[in-house]
Amino acid sequence: MFRSKIAGIGKHVPENVVTNYDLEKMMDTSNEWIVERTGIHERHFVTQPCGAAELALPACEKAILRAGIEKKDIDFIIVATTTPEHLFPGTSSFLQTLLDLPGVPTLDIRVQCSGFIYGLSIADQFIKTGQYQNILLVGVEVQSVGLNLNTEGRDIAVLFGDGAGAAIITRSDDKSEILSTHLYGDGRYAKDLWVDAPVGYQSPRISKEMIDEGRIYPKMNGRQVFKHAITKFPKVVMTALKANNWTIEDVDLVVPHQANMRITESVAKRLGLPLEKVFSNIHKYGNTTAASIPLALDDACAEQKLKKGDKVVLATFGSGFTWSSAAIIW
Ligand code: COA
Repeated sequence: MFRSKIAGIGKHVPENVVTNYDLEKMMDTSNEWIVERTGIHERHFVTQPCGAAELALPACEKAILRAGIEKKDIDFIIVATTTPEHLFPGTSSFLQTLLDLPGVPTLDIRVQCSGFIYGLSIADQFIKTGQYQNILLVGVEVQSVGLNLNTEGRDIAVLFGDGAGAAIITRSDDKSEILSTHLYGDGRYAKDLWVDAPVGYQSPRISKEMIDEGRIYPKMNGRQVFKHAITKFPKVVMTALKANNWTIEDVDLVVPHQANMRITESVAKRLGLPLEKVFSNIHKYGNTTAASIPLALDDACAEQKLKKGDKVVLATFGSGFTWSSAAIIW
């Protein structure tokens, strides 16, 4: 068995910044409402047209450079996204073309906010068994084009943003290591945060009626999501600690999926962690779903809150419902 590690990380967000004040001009909302309930001040939206693969490419190039490998060394491309360009094939196929890596296997995974850690777990298994040596793992979202940016969609539209984060997972030859990953899901709550249409069980998959009824936009039972998030996050962090015989005091940094600052604060409190040990950048990007963990890792490194040898726990909760964690030596 080999050991795996995150060897390099990269991020990319669209240049176009959309503040809460910009949203006030599109819908009946206020900066105060958004900041108080979510901690979000601004997010980035693509200038159309820009698909997920195109948005991810600069993040991949940075991750490859920082990992000290060459593009041709990549054995496998895994992309986690909720917002692919097309129904099929997956974003990973389009990304592979942009990277000019024909022949390299590609895999899309669709577990929404938990996508990056699910992908990390898949990559970890392939590295451990020795099948692959260098895996490109991407979390990317182009949420903005699918949001209802009117008052009817305001509960969700103010939360989400676009962005991309990429990581190179390689065989570890030093103390850095992905120690464990823990994945969970409960499909009974699938419709508490979902997009109904296009639907795969009727023809045509999309119709004018569906569009008029707003079935193409995300719908969320916000309170249900909140309630589950604040219990599942601490639990899944504790699972990661127990699996590695760590106490919460051993951990240098917890990097949670950036869903909502109120959720993050509640999780920190339940874990007995000072907020300085729980990374947050939601004020800048909003919720970027599968991109949120790699964006946070990249920012945490840039802000020197994450250093080589640190003990880190990553944790997610989101649509599905899905939730997950990973224990890592950075
Ligand atoms: N701006 C202004 N008012 C808004 C609004 C917005 N963007 N969105 C909703 N409102 C209104 C509602 O219509 C409601 O009005 P009413 O009292 O007249 O009916 C009022 O604000 C309160 O709505 P409510 O849904 O009770 O707010 P809340 O305190 O539960 O907060 C969330 C809403 C979405 C912020 C909260 O439920 C939450 O954080 N949920 C988790 C969301 C999440 O993280 N999702 C992603 C998980 S990966």
